[in-house]
Amino acid sequence: MSSPRPAIEWLADAVLYQIYPQSFADSDGDGIGDFAGVEARLDHLEWLGVNTVWFNPCFASPFDDAGYDVADYLRVAPRYGTNEDLTRLTEAAGRRGIRVLLDLVAGHTSDQHPWFKASANDPADQRFIWADTDQAPEGFVASPGTRPGFYQPNFFESQPALNFGHARMDPAEPWRVPVDAEGPRANRQALRDIMDHWLGLGLSGFRVDMAASLVKDDPEHAETAKLWRELRGWLDRTHPGAALLSEWGDPQISVPAGFHADFFLQFGPRGDGLPLRSLWNNWEGTVSEPWEPLQPYFGATGEGTFSLFHDAWREATEIIGDAGFISLPTANHDFSRLSTGPRTAEQLPAAFAFQLTWPTLPAIYYGDEIGMRYVPGTPTREGSRLGPRYDRAGSRTPMQWDDSPNAGFSTAPAEDLYLPLDPDPDRPTVAAQRADEGSLLHLVRRLIALRKATPELGPKSSTEVLNEGYPLVYVRGGRFLVVVNPRAASAEATAPAGPAGAVEAAGVTVTDGVIRAEGFGYGIFDLGAR
Ligand code: NOJ
Repeated sequence: MSSPRPAIEWLADAVLYQIYPQSFADSDGDGIGDFAGVEARLDHLEWLGVNTVWFNPCFASPFDDAGYDVADYLRVAPRYGTNEDLTRLTEAAGRRGIRVLLDLVAGHTSDQHPWFKASANDPADQRFIWADTDQAPEGFVASPGTRPGFYQPNFFESQPALNFGHARMDPAEPWRVPVDAEGPRANRQALRDIMDHWLGLGLSGFRVDMAASLVKDDPEHAETAKLWRELRGWLDRTHPGAALLSEWGDPQISVPAGFHADFFLQFGPRGDGLPLRSLWNNWEGTVSEPWEPLQPYFGATGEGTFSLFHDAWREATEIIGDAGFISLPTANHDFSRLSTGPRTAEQLPAAFAFQLTWPTLPAIYYGDEIGMRYVPGTPTREGSRLGPRYDRAGSRTPMQWDDSPNAGFSTAPAEDLYLPLDPDPDRPTVAAQRADEGSLLHLVRRLIALRKATPELGPKSSTEVLNEGYPLVYVRGGRFLVVVNPRAASAEATAPAGPAGAVEAAGVTVTDGVIRAEGFGYGIFDLGAR
């Protein structure tokens, strides 16, 4: 395997902010967010200090899966505006030092995409995976067109898998084609064309949906990795500086496969997403039945185990080296927010103090900066429900801007909103928290500013974990001592020798070699040059 190229420089300083476009800001009063709405709220992003936004898919779509069912990769959905609106937003964001990434749904289209409609009527077409059998192979779906047989979906039935070939042939499945067959080659070229189109308009890169899913029956993902490395090579030659982040959930595979960064996610081959879930997931909100009930490290009872996360982190970073980053999201559109179930607002500052001082590429999910909660009982919308205890809608409710009607999200009648707002009369808002210097929002802003101004806190500096029970204690870049106590009970640990000046702290003191942390306390201390 050729060694991966070093990561692009700007990404090392990035603080990502994820926008679910449906729910961020609605400018035209139809109840659904749009690009002009985001543009009007760029002040918030600039003030907060985030410098890279990634949008969930915003392309033409029947929205069976919130836009992850793309019907035209080169045209944005009219409900968000026009391609020109997106370009204008990207330029306006760029003037404020904010890059914009789009979501590349690489593994499947919508069943309404013209490629699929043509394929369903042309027995020779190979762009999708068709079994011309009498009986449906497991998981396959009957052709909706004149072509007989069945197609393979990639997620929901309405999301036919694009054909990137199979890594292995199987006489029992004669429809398999190799990765360099005509259909797979056309699809690989299509990925280039899509990227080229948007990068040419000023976008800065992509988060790639289900990046591991491309080549089927692919042991160790070897052929899928080859495909991405080839694309990365093309990207580096044609659009140097553009970023590729994968939704893979396994950075030690995806970064060597050519991605600049990957996320620790609620799923993933290593322990079914355990590394991330062991930090945040508290068995409320989005729950998948195979998951073991687990006390998260960021839990008031203090029964969590940081090493579940830390061991996986260490293993991945050792393999990745300088080639890329691991992104740690506060949440995303697929799983519960930080503020879910028993996790109260007073517990959130410690979580951000950790995320924004850890050597990660931090990703803040819209609204988490004010502690918006996962809203249980939110109606299912656009394929949000994945299981009896797994509805993603609760993480997708409208952004809470202020105390005007619809929390300033939209002027539409409340019943026309994409999803109802959190009905809690005490729901947090941006306006209230901006007016309060003691708010979570101000803390997040200060932490982002501190991170930017302090290379020792960035992803490339060293991390020495001194205590991984409660409190968590680590030193960044040999200079900054971080203490985080995510449980309700107080905790003590030994401090490194010498003075420690508080840079940002609440409920943590360091005196005479002893760290004392109150429940939910956090602190960042300057140990001075050593
Ligand atoms: C992962 C996306 O994050 C999720 O929202 C979507 O439903 C599936 N991929 C299918 O595209």
